[in-house]
Amino acid sequence: MSRPTQLTIDLQALCENARTLKGLAGPRGTMAVVKADAYGHGAVACARALSDLVDGFAVAITEEAIALREAGIELPILVLQGPHSPEDAQVMSSAALWPAISSEHQIDWLEQLGARFDQVWVKCDTGMHRLGLMPHEITSARSRLTPHSVNDIVLMSHFADAEAPDSSLTERQLRRWVQVSDASSSGSFSNSAATAGQIETWESWMRLGYSLYGGSLVALPNGYSLKPVMQFESRIASVRWIDVGESVGYGGRWVAHRRSRIASIPAGYGDGYPRAARDGTPIGTQQGTALLAGKVSMDMVTADITDLPALEIGSPVTLWGDSPCIDEVAGYCDTIGYELCTRITQRTPRRFHRVTSDRD
Ligand SMILES: Cc1ncc(COP(=O)(O)O)c(C=O)c1O
Repeated sequence: MSRPTQLTIDLQALCENARTLKGLAGPRGTMAVVKADAYGHGAVACARALSDLVDGFAVAITEEAIALREAGIELPILVLQGPHSPEDAQVMSSAALWPAISSEHQIDWLEQLGARFDQVWVKCDTGMHRLGLMPHEITSARSRLTPHSVNDIVLMSHFADAEAPDSSLTERQLRRWVQVSDASSSGSFSNSAATAGQIETWESWMRLGYSLYGGSLVALPNGYSLKPVMQFESRIASVRWIDVGESVGYGGRWVAHRRSRIASIPAGYGDGYPRAARDGTPIGTQQGTALLAGKVSMDMVTADITDLPALEIGSPVTLWGDSPCIDEVAGYCDTIGYELCTRITQRTPRRFHRVTSDRD
């Protein structure tokens, strides 16, 4: 490794988060969402680490599921987008995946193929208006799907606004969910925000993504906390003093109002650090928080370290992880931590901390 920029993925923290969330969830089954390479954390490593703790995995598309199967993952895998073609449905059936069905034409494909699955999930559009059958279509969809599902048909829906307290959209979705669900059958509604925010809903499965990785858009109940799984770290590569009135970086956005000491860190948007980061975005160091100064470039970020005199070339920095956490950094970039962790590029090496669980 020629430069010190890297991601450390703490699989122990991932497992602790899973235990914490299961503690919040009671008897519900846990579907760990590992799409988009486990939100940038490494799907195969995360799925292996979680295999004894969760009841299944969810991915967006078939290729993601096949990669997990090829890596030896045997737990159920739900494909959230369902089949995109009859051929896709055939692959799902051959790999023993669970399709999430959200349209009549997907049901047509299953009928044409005579495809059979251990479980089929049927998605109801309760108000997100992205995917899913409308509530009045669910009864007929369920009966058309019955021959294609050996064990269970699980009704699912997805919250559009679970992180907002007292959301009228959430209330509307919950009303429709109650109308369409039949308490004797299986259901899945909650994502991370609904689980962490303890939105009360009828369901047998929760689908957890972001919170497993230690991020949260809502405060957890007292006594519960999550640990960041991803540490995005580097070391200072260059330090210089600049005079009052001098600027830093492209376009001269940050201007020194006092004589200033500037550190350059070898990580930029080519590594996944967001170019949208504003001046003042926190960067963690062992001496305290340094503040981003100047536009992020492809391979570098620059920070004002005038008040942190002990920092020098080689001092470690945390771009996000324990401090600052990814949600805090995202706030300075007008985005959410979900986007930051999934946009880490291939150039950034990933190092996994192994799980030391009971079975090790
Ligand atoms: C259909 C569906 N279910 C569950 C999730 C998991 O959501 P979260 O990462 O907020 O837990 C997602 C994520 O986008 C999703 O699209």
